[in-house]
Amino acid sequence: MKILAFESSCDETAVAVVEDGRKILSDAIASQADMHALYGGVVPEVASRKHVEAIAGLTQQALREAGCTKDDIDAVAVTYAPGLIGAVLVGLSFAKSVSYAWDVPLIPVHHVRGHIAANYLAFPELKPPFLALAISGGNTLIVDVRDYTDLHILGATRDDAAGECFDKAARVLGLPYPGGKPMDELAHGSRGGVYKLPHAKVDGAELDMSFSGLKTAVVNLAHHASQTGEGLDRAALARDFTQAVSDELVPRAMKAAKLAGRRVIAAGGGVAANSFIRADLEQACRKAGYQLFVPPLKLCGDNGAMIGAQGYYEYLAGHTAGMELNAYATREIERSI
Ligand code: KG4
Repeated sequence: MKILAFESSCDETAVAVVEDGRKILSDAIASQADMHALYGGVVPEVASRKHVEAIAGLTQQALREAGCTKDDIDAVAVTYAPGLIGAVLVGLSFAKSVSYAWDVPLIPVHHVRGHIAANYLAFPELKPPFLALAISGGNTLIVDVRDYTDLHILGATRDDAAGECFDKAARVLGLPYPGGKPMDELAHGSRGGVYKLPHAKVDGAELDMSFSGLKTAVVNLAHHASQTGEGLDRAALARDFTQAVSDELVPRAMKAAKLAGRRVIAAGGGVAANSFIRADLEQACRKAGYQLFVPPLKLCGDNGAMIGAQGYYEYLAGHTAGMELNAYATREIERSI
């Protein structure tokens, strides 16, 4: 079964063709990051307009690169939530029109389910159940993936997402948007251990996380340094900050796996590209005797193929929608539609 998949929830327009949920036939992406970098973050209205400009051409590109015509496409999958509402609506409206015009089923896909499903593309052997750590620019979740479309939240951030925290901390360190990758690179220039940063605990919810205190601490350190004229060891701060984020995520993921009785962990989302977090996860899983899956870098960030992968399993579970399907800025990952 060949699925044409659309993703437009933030600042990447992406269209892919995926076969049977596991094989990428094409994965066309147009990033708007350079445009938003001018403003230090995503400007929602600009994102929507850029999606409108890109989506038709990308669809033609994805079909061409997959060697497909419209007659080869069996269904359309699309991110319908969560994300910037105007941005999601562009992809959703386009996907609806394709579904209607070509008379193929329309499959709504939750964006974060897609990030987890990126692992199905990279690792043919991976099958639920497993424990997922979904860490992206807008979401930070620890999820028990009981089956492809049966997901249960075990832990979540109470405030900022991990990626958002990376982007804000990077901004005060003078790094360009999106800040995760440049922070990763900067952190390699230090062994850290210089700055003491806060670690959050949520009373009565040991698997929940909080990143806003950490973000504020980095902002305060940077402002203090510039006001007093004291130097700031940017590389050490990047390294210590990254370690603090990793210390929020990795031990909780390990604990969640233990509580849920899972011995397989899969990570996903843009922050899963972080070299230190990947290394910490690897080390913790090796020590615990767990199997770890982390997608290759290009499948960590937003892409259309991950929507096609999850879309296949949503389709098998009967989760299709009609033209009444709406877009949502927020939506629980546990809801199939
Ligand atoms: O998954 P993604 O492309 O978009 C969302 O679904 O939100 O994630 C984007 C986020 C950004 O916050 C970006 O700074 C972060 O992922 N990111 C990283 C790295 N590469 C991207 N964060 C930490 N280390 C990285 N190497």
